[in-house]
Amino acid sequence: MERPIGVIDSGVGGLTVVHELMRQLPREKLIYLGDTKRCPYGSRSEQEIKQFTWEMVVYLIKQNIKMLVIACNTATAYTLKELQAELSIPVIGVIRPGARTAIKETNNNEVGIIGTDATIRSGAYPRALKGIHANIIPHSLACPPFVPMVEAGVHAGPKADRIVSDTLAPLKKTNIDTLILGCTHYPLIRDTIQKAMGEAVTVISSSEETARETSAMLEVHHLLNEGNHTAKHLFYTTGELELFTKITQTIFQDDNQSLQSITIHQAKLQS
Ligand code: DGL
Repeated sequence: MERPIGVIDSGVGGLTVVHELMRQLPREKLIYLGDTKRCPYGSRSEQEIKQFTWEMVVYLIKQNIKMLVIACNTATAYTLKELQAELSIPVIGVIRPGARTAIKETNNNEVGIIGTDATIRSGAYPRALKGIHANIIPHSLACPPFVPMVEAGVHAGPKADRIVSDTLAPLKKTNIDTLILGCTHYPLIRDTIQKAMGEAVTVISSSEETARETSAMLEVHHLLNEGNHTAKHLFYTTGELELFTKITQTIFQDDNQSLQSITIHQAKLQS
Protein backbone atom coordinates (compact mmCIF):
# COMPACT_ATOMS: atom_id res chain seq x y z
CA MET A 1 0.00 0.00 0.00
CA GLU A 2 1.58 3.27 -1.16
CA ARG A 3 0.07 5.54 1.49
CA PRO A 4 2.71 7.12 3.77
CA ILE A 5 3.53 6.42 7.41
CA GLY A 6 3.14 9.52 9.58
CA VAL A 7 5.77 10.26 12.23
CA ILE A 8 5.38 13.05 14.77
CA ASP A 9 7.65 14.66 17.34
CA SER A 10 7.83 17.90 19.25
CA GLY A 11 11.02 18.81 17.34
CA VAL A 12 14.02 17.19 15.70
CA GLY A 13 14.44 14.22 18.06
CA GLY A 14 12.00 12.00 16.18
CA LEU A 15 14.36 12.10 13.21
CA THR A 16 16.42 9.45 15.03
CA VAL A 17 13.39 7.14 14.75
CA VAL A 18 12.82 8.19 11.12
CA HIS A 19 16.41 7.33 10.27
CA GLU A 20 15.93 3.81 11.60
CA LEU A 21 12.55 3.46 9.84
CA MET A 22 14.22 4.35 6.53
CA ARG A 23 16.90 1.75 7.16
CA GLN A 24 14.49 -1.05 8.08
CA LEU A 25 11.65 -0.14 5.71
CA PRO A 26 13.26 1.35 2.57
CA ARG A 27 10.08 1.06 0.48
CA GLU A 28 7.90 3.00 2.88
CA LYS A 29 7.20 6.67 2.27
CA LEU A 30 7.44 8.74 5.46
CA ILE A 31 5.90 12.05 6.38
CA TYR A 32 7.60 13.58 9.39
CA LEU A 33 6.21 16.50 11.33
CA GLY A 34 8.34 18.20 14.00
CA ASP A 35 6.65 20.90 16.05
CA THR A 36 9.94 22.75 16.58
CA LYS A 37 8.15 26.07 17.03
CA ARG A 38 6.49 24.87 20.26
CA CYS A 39 9.28 22.57 21.42
CA PRO A 40 9.90 21.57 24.19
CA TYR A 41 6.70 19.74 25.08
CA GLY A 42 8.44 18.19 28.08
CA SER A 43 7.93 21.21 30.32
CA ARG A 44 4.30 21.77 29.30
CA SER A 45 1.00 20.82 30.95
CA GLU A 46 -0.85 17.62 30.09
CA GLN A 47 -3.57 19.65 28.38
CA GLU A 48 -1.09 21.48 26.12
CA ILE A 49 0.75 18.26 25.22
CA LYS A 50 -2.57 16.66 24.22
CA GLN A 51 -3.77 19.67 22.22
CA PHE A 52 -0.51 20.14 20.31
CA THR A 53 -0.19 16.43 19.59
CA TRP A 54 -3.74 16.27 18.25
CA GLU A 55 -3.03 19.25 15.98
CA MET A 56 -0.06 17.40 14.51
CA VAL A 57 -2.12 14.24 14.09
CA VAL A 58 -4.92 16.07 12.28
CA TYR A 59 -2.34 17.62 9.92
CA LEU A 60 -1.00 14.19 8.99
CA ILE A 61 -4.37 12.45 8.80
CA LYS A 62 -5.27 14.99 6.09
CA GLN A 63 -2.27 13.63 4.15
CA ASN A 64 -3.82 10.16 4.17
CA ILE A 65 -1.29 8.36 6.39
CA LYS A 66 -1.81 4.61 6.85
CA MET A 67 -0.13 4.38 10.25
CA LEU A 68 1.07 6.80 12.96
CA VAL A 69 4.34 6.57 14.88
CA ILE A 70 4.52 8.89 17.89
CA ALA A 71 8.29 9.42 17.90
CA CYS A 72 8.17 11.51 21.06
CA ASN A 73 8.21 10.05 24.55
CA THR A 74 6.34 12.97 26.08
CA ALA A 75 3.52 12.76 23.53
CA THR A 76 3.47 8.96 23.85
CA ALA A 77 3.17 9.18 27.64
CA TYR A 78 0.07 11.41 27.47
CA THR A 79 -1.71 10.59 24.20
CA LEU A 80 -0.95 7.03 23.02
CA LYS A 81 -4.02 5.37 24.57
CA GLU A 82 -6.34 8.15 23.40
CA LEU A 83 -4.98 8.12 19.83
CA GLN A 84 -5.18 4.33 19.63
CA ALA A 85 -8.81 4.51 20.74
CA GLU A 86 -9.83 7.37 18.43
CA LEU A 87 -7.98 6.73 15.18
CA SER A 88 -8.88 4.05 12.67
CA ILE A 89 -5.23 3.50 11.66
CA PRO A 90 -2.57 1.64 13.72
CA VAL A 91 -0.74 3.86 16.22
CA ILE A 92 2.45 3.08 18.13
CA GLY A 93 4.63 5.03 20.54
CA VAL A 94 8.24 4.74 21.69
CA ILE A 95 7.87 3.82 25.36
CA ARG A 96 7.07 0.08 25.21
CA PRO A 97 9.74 -0.59 22.56
CA GLY A 98 12.31 1.17 24.79
CA ALA A 99 11.19 -0.74 27.88
CA ARG A 100 11.36 -4.08 26.05
CA THR A 101 14.89 -3.41 24.80
CA ALA A 102 16.09 -2.44 28.30
CA ILE A 103 14.66 -5.63 29.81
CA LYS A 104 16.51 -7.68 27.19
CA GLU A 105 19.79 -5.92 28.07
CA THR A 106 19.83 -5.62 31.87
CA ASN A 107 21.63 -8.20 33.99
CA ASN A 108 20.95 -6.81 37.47
CA ASN A 109 17.38 -5.51 36.77
CA GLU A 110 18.33 -1.96 37.79
CA VAL A 111 17.30 0.25 34.91
CA GLY A 112 17.75 4.01 34.64
CA ILE A 113 15.32 6.16 32.68
CA ILE A 114 16.07 9.70 31.61
CA GLY A 115 13.49 11.91 29.94
CA THR A 116 11.70 15.23 30.02
CA ASP A 117 9.94 16.49 33.16
CA ALA A 118 6.57 15.50 31.73
CA THR A 119 7.64 11.98 30.73
CA ILE A 120 9.24 11.27 34.11
CA ARG A 121 6.23 12.80 35.94
CA SER A 122 3.83 10.56 34.00
CA GLY A 123 5.44 7.38 35.38
CA ALA A 124 4.90 5.77 31.97
CA TYR A 125 8.32 4.05 31.84
CA PRO A 126 8.26 2.41 35.30
CA ARG A 127 4.70 1.24 34.48
CA ALA A 128 5.77 -0.20 31.12
CA LEU A 129 8.90 -1.85 32.63
CA LYS A 130 7.05 -3.38 35.57
CA GLY A 131 4.17 -4.38 33.31
CA ILE A 132 6.62 -6.55 31.35
CA HIS A 133 8.89 -7.65 34.22
CA ALA A 134 7.73 -7.13 37.85
CA ASN A 135 11.24 -7.35 39.34
CA ILE A 136 12.72 -4.38 37.51
CA ILE A 137 13.95 -1.60 39.79
CA PRO A 138 13.52 1.67 37.87
CA HIS A 139 15.57 4.80 38.63
CA SER A 140 14.01 7.81 36.89
CA LEU A 141 15.63 11.18 36.30
CA ALA A 142 14.28 14.23 34.47
CA CYS A 143 16.94 16.02 32.40
CA PRO A 144 15.44 19.39 31.39
CA PRO A 145 18.70 20.94 30.08
CA PHE A 146 19.19 18.32 27.35
CA VAL A 147 16.45 19.19 24.84
CA PRO A 148 17.29 22.91 24.50
CA MET A 149 20.95 21.91 24.09
CA VAL A 150 20.13 19.45 21.29
CA GLU A 151 17.72 21.84 19.55
CA ALA A 152 20.49 24.46 19.61
CA GLY A 153 22.74 22.01 17.77
CA VAL A 154 25.15 21.50 20.74
CA HIS A 155 25.73 17.73 20.70
CA ALA A 156 29.34 17.23 21.83
CA GLY A 157 32.34 19.14 23.18
CA PRO A 158 33.29 20.56 26.59
CA LYS A 159 30.02 22.45 27.14
CA ALA A 160 27.88 19.40 26.32
CA ASP A 161 30.15 17.19 28.50
CA ARG A 162 29.74 19.50 31.49
CA ILE A 163 25.94 19.84 31.21
CA VAL A 164 25.40 16.12 30.68
CA SER A 165 27.77 15.02 33.43
CA ASP A 166 26.27 17.44 36.01
CA THR A 167 22.70 16.47 35.13
CA LEU A 168 23.38 12.72 35.30
CA ALA A 169 25.23 12.91 38.65
CA PRO A 170 22.30 11.43 40.69
CA LEU A 171 22.15 8.34 38.41
CA LYS A 172 25.89 7.75 38.73
CA LYS A 173 25.28 7.08 42.43
CA THR A 174 22.91 4.16 41.64
CA ASN A 175 23.66 0.59 40.52
CA ILE A 176 22.02 0.77 37.12
CA ASP A 177 23.60 -1.34 34.38
CA THR A 178 21.20 -0.11 31.67
CA LEU A 179 19.97 3.37 30.82
CA ILE A 180 16.94 4.13 28.65
CA LEU A 181 17.15 7.30 26.58
CA GLY A 182 13.49 8.12 27.27
CA CYS A 183 13.46 11.13 24.99
CA THR A 184 13.91 11.01 21.24
CA HIS A 185 16.34 13.94 21.38
CA TYR A 186 18.83 12.07 23.54
CA PRO A 187 20.24 9.68 20.88
CA LEU A 188 21.73 12.79 19.32
CA ILE A 189 23.92 13.16 22.43
CA ARG A 190 24.31 9.44 23.00
CA ASP A 191 28.13 9.49 22.94
CA THR A 192 28.22 12.32 25.46
CA ILE A 193 25.78 10.42 27.72
CA GLN A 194 27.76 7.19 27.37
CA LYS A 195 30.96 9.03 28.28
CA ALA A 196 29.33 10.52 31.40
CA MET A 197 27.87 7.18 32.58
CA GLY A 198 30.92 5.04 31.73
CA GLU A 199 31.26 1.95 29.53
CA ALA A 200 29.73 -0.40 32.15
CA VAL A 201 26.26 1.07 31.52
CA THR A 202 24.38 -0.05 28.38
CA VAL A 203 22.66 2.93 26.81
CA ILE A 204 19.36 2.11 25.09
CA SER A 205 17.56 4.07 22.42
CA SER A 206 14.10 2.89 21.40
CA SER A 207 14.49 3.74 17.68
CA GLU A 208 15.47 0.27 16.44
CA GLU A 209 12.77 -1.56 18.38
CA THR A 210 10.19 1.06 17.36
CA ALA A 211 11.08 0.53 13.69
CA ARG A 212 10.77 -3.25 14.18
CA GLU A 213 7.37 -2.81 15.82
CA THR A 214 6.25 -0.54 12.96
CA SER A 215 7.27 -3.19 10.47
CA ALA A 216 5.41 -5.93 12.39
CA MET A 217 2.32 -3.74 12.68
CA LEU A 218 2.28 -3.00 8.92
CA GLU A 219 2.59 -6.69 8.18
CA VAL A 220 -0.19 -7.72 10.55
CA HIS A 221 -2.51 -5.09 9.07
CA HIS A 222 -1.50 -5.93 5.46
CA LEU A 223 -0.27 -2.38 4.96
CA LEU A 224 3.29 -2.98 3.74
CA ASN A 225 4.23 -1.23 0.51
CA GLU A 226 4.87 -3.96 -2.04
CA GLY A 227 6.08 -1.51 -4.74
CA ASN A 228 9.65 -1.75 -5.93
CA HIS A 229 10.78 1.87 -5.96
CA THR A 230 12.88 3.81 -3.44
CA ALA A 231 10.58 5.97 -1.36
CA LYS A 232 10.58 9.78 -1.31
CA HIS A 233 10.01 11.42 2.05
CA LEU A 234 8.44 14.67 3.20
CA PHE A 235 9.66 16.42 6.34
CA TYR A 236 7.76 19.31 7.89
CA THR A 237 8.80 21.71 10.62
CA THR A 238 6.61 24.31 12.30
CA GLY A 239 9.71 26.31 13.22
CA GLU A 240 12.83 27.65 11.55
CA LEU A 241 13.45 25.90 8.25
CA GLU A 242 17.17 26.63 8.20
CA LEU A 243 18.02 25.16 11.62
CA PHE A 244 15.78 22.14 11.01
CA THR A 245 17.50 21.51 7.67
CA LYS A 246 20.93 21.80 9.29
CA ILE A 247 20.06 19.29 12.03
CA THR A 248 18.52 16.92 9.46
CA GLN A 249 21.75 17.08 7.46
CA THR A 250 23.77 16.30 10.60
CA ILE A 251 21.62 13.28 11.44
CA PHE A 252 21.81 11.91 7.89
CA GLN A 253 25.42 12.94 7.23
CA ASP A 254 26.59 9.33 6.78
CA ASP A 255 23.65 8.41 4.59
CA ASN A 256 23.63 10.60 1.52
CA GLN A 257 21.16 8.38 -0.34
CA SER A 258 18.49 8.91 2.34
CA LEU A 259 19.26 12.62 2.48
CA GLN A 260 18.64 12.89 -1.28
CA SER A 261 15.19 11.31 -0.85
CA ILE A 262 13.99 13.98 1.61
CA THR A 263 12.36 17.33 0.92
CA ILE A 264 11.81 19.74 3.80
CA HIS A 265 8.91 22.18 4.11
CA GLN A 266 7.31 24.53 6.58
CA ALA A 267 4.02 23.49 8.23
CA LYS A 268 1.47 25.73 9.85
CA LEU A 269 -0.66 24.14 12.56
CA GLN A 270 -3.90 25.49 14.03
CA SER A 271 -2.83 27.67 16.95
N1 DGL B 1 10.78 14.64 21.79
C1 DGL B 1 10.48 14.80 23.19
C2 DGL B 1 10.48 13.47 23.88
O1 DGL B 1 10.85 12.45 23.31
C3 DGL B 1 11.45 15.70 23.89
C4 DGL B 1 11.41 17.13 23.50
C5 DGL B 1 10.37 17.93 24.19
O2 DGL B 1 10.43 18.17 25.41
O3 DGL B 1 9.48 18.34 23.50
O4 DGL B 1 10.10 13.41 25.02
